[in-house]
Amino acid sequence: MTKHVVTLAHYYTQPEIQHMADKVGDSLELSLYAKEAKADIIVFAGVRFMAETAKILNPQATVILPNAGSTCSLVTQTDIKALKNWRESYPDHIHVSYINSSAEHKALSDWIVTSRNVDDIIAHLYAEGKKVIFSPDRNMGGYLNYQYHYDMPLWSAVCEVHDKFNETALNEAFVAINGEKYLIAHPESPLPVLKKADYVGSTSGMLNWIKQFNGNQQAVIFVATEDGILYNMGLARPELDLRQAPIYAGCQCNSCPYMKMNTIEAVKLAQQGQGEPIDYLSATQMDAARLPIERMLKFSERYYA
Ligand code: 13P
Ligand code: SF4
Repeated sequence: MTKHVVTLAHYYTQPEIQHMADKVGDSLELSLYAKEAKADIIVFAGVRFMAETAKILNPQATVILPNAGSTCSLVTQTDIKALKNWRESYPDHIHVSYINSSAEHKALSDWIVTSRNVDDIIAHLYAEGKKVIFSPDRNMGGYLNYQYHYDMPLWSAVCEVHDKFNETALNEAFVAINGEKYLIAHPESPLPVLKKADYVGSTSGMLNWIKQFNGNQQAVIFVATEDGILYNMGLARPELDLRQAPIYAGCQCNSCPYMKMNTIEAVKLAQQGQGEPIDYLSATQMDAARLPIERMLKFSERYYA
C-alpha cells in the first residue's frame, strides 16, 4: 500500500525546499500541523528539535529528519545534567522552556513556548502570581525581562545565527540611508538590536508585519532574522526594499547552517522513507515532553479560533 507522506518546511529553508512541502510555517504552526496530520510519514525539513516535537505530538507517524546533522545551537549549548541542577535550584518557580530544546529538556519543563506565544504565556503566569525561570535562550529571556520588567533567572544559551546581529553594523547601515528606515527582529537577537526594533516577533509575526506594512513605500526595511524568510517576505510584498540586517559592515549574509542542510536530494530521499527516523525517544520520554507542549497548544488555541 502506498504510504501517505506529508512534508513540512520551516521558513528558513531554501525556496526550492519550501516548494516541496505541503506546509511552510513557523515552529508553532508546524507543530500543530504535525499533530493533526493523517500521515504515515512526516518529513520535517527543519531541525531536529522540530522533528522530535512532531514525533511527540504524532507518535503513530514515522517522522524523518532529512539530514541527521540538523541540530540547533540552543540545544547543543544546553547540558541536560547542568540544566536539571539549575532547575532544581528554583523549586518554587515555574520552568518555561523555548521550543528550541531537546525532548529531554522539554521533559524537565512545566511549559513550552514558541516565539509566537512566549509573551502571552509568561504574562499569564505572572498574572497568576507565579515565579518563572526561562531556558534556554538568554537573548529571548533577557528581552522579556527588559520589556516587561520581569526578574526571570535565565539559562545561558544563544542562537548562533541571531546572536551575530550587531548594533554597530546596524547603526552604520542606518546612517548610510537618507530616507525612512525600519527594523524588525526575531527575539533570539541580542538586546541592543532588539531595543532598536520597530517590531519584535516570531518568523510568522515578522511576515505578517511585512504583509500589513502601510508606511512609506520607499522605506528600507531591515530584517534581523535568518535569510530564508526574506524569500517569503519578497513574495508577499515585492515592491518593498527588504534587506537582511547586517552582522558586520557589508555582510547581509546570515543563514542557519542546520536549516540549510535540507537539500533537495535529502528531502527527496526522506520522502521515500530514507534519512533519519526519530525513533530513539521512549514512550515515557515522549509522554513527559508532551505535557508542557500540550499546555502551550491549549493556551494557543486562541490564535487559531
Ligand atoms: P519561529 O518559532 O519564529 O519559527 O523560530 C524558530 C527558530 O528556530 C528561530 O531561529
Ligand atoms: Fe537554532 Fe538559530 Fe538555526 Fe533557529 S536559526 S534553528 S535557533 S541555530
